[in-house]
Amino acid sequence: MATTAATVQWIFGKYTREDLMIMDPIALRGLLHERTHHMIEVPLYPTLLKWRGRAIKSFGEQAQLCYEIWCARGFTDTAPDIQWVKKYLAIAEQIRAGEKPELDEPLPTPFTPEEMAVVNKLIYGRRSYRDYLDKPIPEEMLETIMEAGRAAPIGCNLGHLKFIVLRTSKERKMIWSDISTRSCGAIIVLCHDKRIAAVVGQDKVVPQNAGFDAAAAGDHMLLMAHALGLGGCWLSELHGEGDTAEIFKKKYGLPDYIEPDLHIILGYPSIGIIKSLRTPLKDMIIEKPQK
Ligand SMILES: Cc1cc2nc3c(=O)[nH]c(=O)nc-3n(C[C@H](O)[C@H](O)[C@H](O)COP(=O)(O)O)c2cc1C
Repeated sequence: MATTAATVQWIFGKYTREDLMIMDPIALRGLLHERTHHMIEVPLYPTLLKWRGRAIKSFGEQAQLCYEIWCARGFTDTAPDIQWVKKYLAIAEQIRAGEKPELDEPLPTPFTPEEMAVVNKLIYGRRSYRDYLDKPIPEEMLETIMEAGRAAPIGCNLGHLKFIVLRTSKERKMIWSDISTRSCGAIIVLCHDKRIAAVVGQDKVVPQNAGFDAAAAGDHMLLMAHALGLGGCWLSELHGEGDTAEIFKKKYGLPDYIEPDLHIILGYPSIGIIKSLRTPLKDMIIEKPQK
């Protein structure tokens, strides 16, 4: 890909090329994700829909600079997130050259009745189990579950989520919970790397996103566990005295920049559970107040 970011002086008005050359690689990767997202992915589609046939000189240049420095520092070029970045950089390069990129990504289509039956089984069949057999979960299943978490929506595609799998009873005891974790398959602790949100300022402007990212990933994992014939349950984190995350961090030896956000327990349920039901939809919808 041609070098085209020669004119960029600053990123976020605070990072120069020199800063990027010495930035922690973890933070630089986060910045590359975020700049690709905000400087290409977000403005791209409105730009295409209102295409004026003119070159947009600075389109995506900040992301291009981050990528050039990423490569200059000899970092990986084949990982899926970097492939995603490269796809957008190629499109941005066309826009800077005044060429309209042609995209052939599919639009959503309704599922067939058979596919819908599977979706309904997944969404409406899932439930939270609280008693498990003392039986380990095969590693391939754990991987499938975590892959589902990896596919969940994530703010700015920041790439800051981290997963810890606690397999043994001794490890699982590091997590406080109101249900017994003595016998189960595993606990997955969903965390985020605080250095990544900090480098792009997310910790200041959208601090809630990290926890939401973990929640979205946790929900995907629970759905996949259900599809694999396993059970799962979200375990609340206590704040204040007896802070679950702080205690776990200390016991597990986590560095300060890794922040646990939530935990899910997984395993082979020992007993079926009555499916909890919700208030009717009409009671959940807030209509605009009449003046
Ligand atoms: C934010 C959150 C925290 C939760 N914390 C706990 C918990 O600490 N212990 C527990 O047994 N269940 C916990 N749950 C599971 C809920 O109790 C459960 O989702 C709810 O009762 C609805 O039941 P269902 O998941 O079977 O549909 C939590 C769920 C959420 C979304």
